[in-house]
Amino acid sequence: MTRLRTVEQVLASRPTIEGAGVHLRRAFGHQQVPRLDPFLLLDDFRSDNPLEYEAGFPWHPHRGIETVTYMLDGRVDHEDSMGNRGIVGPGDVQWMTAGSGIVHQEMPKPLAGGRMGGLQLWVNLPAAHKMMEPRYQEVKEARIPRVEASKGVNVGVISGEVAGVKGPVRDLMVEPQYLDVRLSPGASFQHAVPEGHRAFAYLLEGRGTYDERQGSIDEGHLVLLNDGGFVKVQADSKPHRFLLVAGKPLGEPIAWWGPIVMNNNRELETAISEYRSGTFIKAGKAKATEKA
Ligand code: FE2
Repeated sequence: MTRLRTVEQVLASRPTIEGAGVHLRRAFGHQQVPRLDPFLLLDDFRSDNPLEYEAGFPWHPHRGIETVTYMLDGRVDHEDSMGNRGIVGPGDVQWMTAGSGIVHQEMPKPLAGGRMGGLQLWVNLPAAHKMMEPRYQEVKEARIPRVEASKGVNVGVISGEVAGVKGPVRDLMVEPQYLDVRLSPGASFQHAVPEGHRAFAYLLEGRGTYDERQGSIDEGHLVLLNDGGFVKVQADSKPHRFLLVAGKPLGEPIAWWGPIVMNNNRELETAISEYRSGTFIKAGKAKATEKA
């Protein structure tokens, strides 16, 4: 008999300033380590005001992690030190495995009306893969399947599987599920998550009940789920949208400095000194897999 995943904790996202002065909301980050293992950080950078984001995230390095950018509105223009350039447009996903090292910039741009926004999740890499060759999996919105899982339940499957439909982002170390779930008023969604995997929901719009003892929870909150075999969510009287994310914990030590996350301080010091001396980049042009 599989168990329902009850609510372990509800965290309110908190205002933070990142990059060159981007105002965003952080659902979790450094302070929560290692509670969300294998996940490290989730930022919600939705905004109506270009002054809050136009400075962007100029050149910075990453090593030892994957960054997952999911745009909801507007776009992010990105460029890296290996000569890759591209646009993550509305509804698109960029799953970037920094591995041994990428230096890049990410510059948010509005569409008409100034609205811009999305989410960036950091996924840790296991020690054995921290220095793997960098790669991108880039998926345009049109290639992300939207599944009518049951009445009033529409799921965008970015990674993982719903009703026999697999998401396009694959071959990842922590076997992640990354779902964008939209519920009509009153609709409920039930979904299997392997026992032992870490799972959370981040609430994008409206309110939902994740555990009857907890009552309904409002948008802008992170719902950390206890272990179990399945998740159940019911929308209130308005539409409800949330991300459901799960992955296999690594259980390894974490040494974190800014955008670089390794297993120990010696590896961090190596990364920082390599960055300063210009020997940070180990690989040639990162492989981009454009899902078509
Ligand atoms: Fe970055």
